[in-house]
Amino acid sequence: MIILVTGGAGFIGSHFTKMTLKNGNRVVVLDKLTYAGNLENLKEIKNHPNFRFYKGDICNKKLVEKILKNEGPEVIINFAAETHVDRSILDAEAFIDTDVKGTFVLLQAARKFPIKLFIQVSTDEVYGSIPEGSFKETDALNPSSPYSASKAAGDRLAYSYWVTYKSPVIILRPCNIYGPNQYPEKFIPLFITNAIEGKPLPLYGDGKQVRDWLYVTDLCEAIELIIQKGALGEVYNIAASNEKNNLEIAQKIVEILGKDKSLIQHVKDREGHDRRYSMSSSKVLQLGWKPRVNLEQGLKETIQWYLNNRPWWEKIKRGRYSKYYQKQYAHRV
Ligand code: NAD
Ligand code: TYD
Repeated sequence: MIILVTGGAGFIGSHFTKMTLKNGNRVVVLDKLTYAGNLENLKEIKNHPNFRFYKGDICNKKLVEKILKNEGPEVIINFAAETHVDRSILDAEAFIDTDVKGTFVLLQAARKFPIKLFIQVSTDEVYGSIPEGSFKETDALNPSSPYSASKAAGDRLAYSYWVTYKSPVIILRPCNIYGPNQYPEKFIPLFITNAIEGKPLPLYGDGKQVRDWLYVTDLCEAIELIIQKGALGEVYNIAASNEKNNLEIAQKIVEILGKDKSLIQHVKDREGHDRRYSMSSSKVLQLGWKPRVNLEQGLKETIQWYLNNRPWWEKIKRGRYSKYYQKQYAHRV
């Protein structure tokens, strides 16, 4: 099978690219290489005969059509997005461009070619916060950050193409994902790398916000299964049922690394901070998927990866990221 993976140089996209290539598929990656895209994530496969990389923007209609024409993918998986809530609070423009307009460009282009499946990777954040219970796929969306609102737009736009044009769309809503190669602005890799360096771990507010954490390869396996067995026009929640509050995760990271708990420092909360995300994933469980990596094991593996790959994240943290970090955290302390 030929698969076009957009955003394949990012965190999840690069894991998926490597897994699906190993499973015998041909993979074409289209990635703009924004601050979050990193060719280092694909270095093991860069010379693989079934791998092709295009640097470019999913908003670029000409380029997208050229790739669809020349490479002839049967499946498109749209991972490409601006993905960090805190950045969307600072400036949402790129989120609207990529997560909304970019999704539109891909959906439009896909109509002109014999695509069998278009997977739109959405997020649990489109439902908004839920104090108790868990969201089902049929529940209403109530996004509350510019990031989640832009993702909700992409999610519903993809659905509209199924209803209106019978485009072969499936929408995935994964919970919070963690693992190796995640950009160190996100909670878990930020806390791991700061702890390794003996720097404070900036915990927003009271740290009692709850997230559901899934290891990245478990998500990639769910996507492989959905490509085989998913029903067109459907939405699939992909949850880990591993809900923990942020303080618990921070304490676990510090404990595994053998560092002092005093590194955890409460700072000013995120504006509009969603208190709890929770989804039921009975639909994807019924397809035969289940997560294989528990949180303890996944955190240990992730921490080990960051310990073994210091040049990967040190280069990022010392580069243009450091300006963002100063801006983001200066007003919190
Ligand atoms: P990431 O930020 O690590 O990677 C995003 C990738 O998209 C980067 O390689 C970047 O260069 C590329 N990109 C950005 N704008 C682009 C554009 N206009 N054209 C082409 N490429 C572009 O993100 P991630 O964490 O790997 O997330 C992948 C997808 O999964 C996103 O759609 C995200 O919303 C979704 N998601 C992520 C999580 C999570 O916890 N990480 C959870 C649920 C859903
Ligand atoms: P994040 O990784 O940004 O994902 P989400 O998209 O779920 O917001 O953050 C996960 C949780 O960690 C979220 O509740 C915000 C919190 N957090 C902190 O407490 N401190 C931080 O420095 C960051 C980046 C996140």
